[in-house]
Amino acid sequence: MKQQVLKIAIQKSGRLTEKSLQLLRNCGIDIPAESRKLKASANNFPIELYFLRDDDIPEYVQDGIADLGILGENVLLEKKAAVETVMPLGFAKCKLSLAVPRNEQYEGLDYWEGKKIATTYTNILSNFLKKNKINAEIHSISGSVEIAPGIGLAQGICDIVSTGSTLLSNGLKAVEVVLNSQAVLISNQNLTNEKQQILDKLLFRIRAKQKAATNKYILLNAPDSKIDEICALLPGMKSPSVLPLREKGWSSLHSVVQENQFWEVIDQLKQAGAEGILVLPVEKMIV
Ligand code: PRP
Ligand code: ZN
Repeated sequence: MKQQVLKIAIQKSGRLTEKSLQLLRNCGIDIPAESRKLKASANNFPIELYFLRDDDIPEYVQDGIADLGILGENVLLEKKAAVETVMPLGFAKCKLSLAVPRNEQYEGLDYWEGKKIATTYTNILSNFLKKNKINAEIHSISGSVEIAPGIGLAQGICDIVSTGSTLLSNGLKAVEVVLNSQAVLISNQNLTNEKQQILDKLLFRIRAKQKAATNKYILLNAPDSKIDEICALLPGMKSPSVLPLREKGWSSLHSVVQENQFWEVIDQLKQAGAEGILVLPVEKMIV
């Protein structure tokens, strides 16, 4: 029987494209670098990539044209497709915001009462307005939302703000956050067992990478008399490897700790006598 292949839809060209490819490549999946056609097959893992408009991805995954999709939560929520959200991916973080012309005085949500707002995010915006009991008119357009106030189409807009440069170059300022978004992995609701197994393998690799990213391998030297004190400072260091140094009465401690825990106690570590501290990235973490 022919081996099944997991079809993954990613954004054809846009904010998520490179990072989506990077995510898969970081999992050791070899995706040919050749020009982006509609499809590409990985050389060493049973997946096939489809390069699509991000707006179309929810529907394609719902209908089983693709098995998985990588897209922004903003698009996922707007499209309301029947798909599974597998996991957040931690990249392409952005906000869906309301914005007004830079010189406009803005004092709060009441501003929007009776106003016209241009957006491609009609569903999300209408929920937001309803929730906040604001009567505003939504002007649905399919792109270039940021020019709407300048040409008198609307008083404000609701659109994605990532770096903020689009707003800036169009004389607008963000005044209200409607939604915080990041990239997510979605899947079709009826994967075959074989496809589910491929997905599980992929998830295993993604999680190993994610875990590794927040952990660091720490090496430090300390007087033997201070080892207990130092281990107490670093919760992750419950059971470090302790190697004797050539200098009597000193040891080298090795362990993996959460990076943020480490930075919080760095001064105390030094005070406790830690020396020669090295912090190294962890490539993959399988626990
Ligand atoms: C959003 C939005 C702006 C841009 C803002 O588009 O419509 O064009 O990003 O980014 P900035 O704050 O960094 O300037 P998106 O990437 O969602 O693409 P799409 O709507 O064309 O799919
Ligand atoms: Zn889009």
